[in-house]
Amino acid sequence: MTIRDALRQSIQRFELHGVSSPRLNAEVLLSHVLAAEKAYLYTHHERELSVEETQRLEDAVYERVSGVPVQYIVGRQEFYGRYFAVNPSVLIPRPETELLVEHVIGFRPAAGSRIIDVGTGSGCIGITLALELSETHVFLSDVSFEALQTATANARRLAANVGIVCMDLLEAASGPFDFIVSNPPYVSRAETSRLQREVREHEPHVALFAEDDGLGAYRQLIPSAQQMLRPGGYLLMEIGFGLEERVVSLFDSSWERLPTGADLQGIPRIVIARRPAPPIANVR
Ligand SMILES: C[S@@+](CC[C@H](N)C(=O)[O-])C[C@H]1O[C@@H](n2cnc3c(N)ncnc32)[C@H](O)[C@@H]1O
Repeated sequence: MTIRDALRQSIQRFELHGVSSPRLNAEVLLSHVLAAEKAYLYTHHERELSVEETQRLEDAVYERVSGVPVQYIVGRQEFYGRYFAVNPSVLIPRPETELLVEHVIGFRPAAGSRIIDVGTGSGCIGITLALELSETHVFLSDVSFEALQTATANARRLAANVGIVCMDLLEAASGPFDFIVSNPPYVSRAETSRLQREVREHEPHVALFAEDDGLGAYRQLIPSAQQMLRPGGYLLMEIGFGLEERVVSLFDSSWERLPTGADLQGIPRIVIARRPAPPIANVR
């Protein structure tokens, strides 16, 4: 079978099974099997696949038709211009989470600042910050040991210098921190049936669901962040669609709230608050 036939047949299978973006899926999987760039598929469309390549493509197409996200099949996802290894123990990094990274960078953390990424998953947020802000000290934490194994492997491969801690939110953290950042789980159990099948059946539930109508992690994280932040330090958290008002209401008057960061469509995505710095004494 040639590359042209392999692409055509894969696209037909995806169309038949209602997989969205059939051509893109076929191109990504065939590129993965051949360890080649997408352009190669179109400059070598008469090249014959070996028996082994044909079988590997068949397996990959079968997995995709069964609902496995393409990122888990190829084992990676791009985030902020770098590839992160992913597997079913970590959430697949989403493009909107890059906004959280951009906001932290926008604050221009000083050299020596201590930053912790709570619920790091693949490590995409914390590792990106460690690489973009190389004079800061970044820590990655997660309650999932398996997720931390993936984050550790990503940090090593991308040569990011980070500390790694397995803990429940900030329970065992040794602060203080200048920035606490998090994309916590925020899907309410009641929304389970509304999730895409790929997400519901394949992404880790510990990364998706939170008690208390999706607010559980925010409710715990906000007061513990208050204890762990240096005066003048920032807490930045990604929020789920439609959660802004309820998350904002969890901050008491001891916090200084900053405007919520919105994505390109104007959807509120990043809640930001600051632990106020003490007033500077008026020395005469
Ligand atoms: C929405 S995912 C975010 C993963 C990654 N930071 C990203 O943005 O792609 C939430 C992460 O929080 C972790 N998590 C869930 N509950 C936690 C808890 N109580 N303490 C620490 N981490 C937790 C999950 O294992 C998961 O990796």
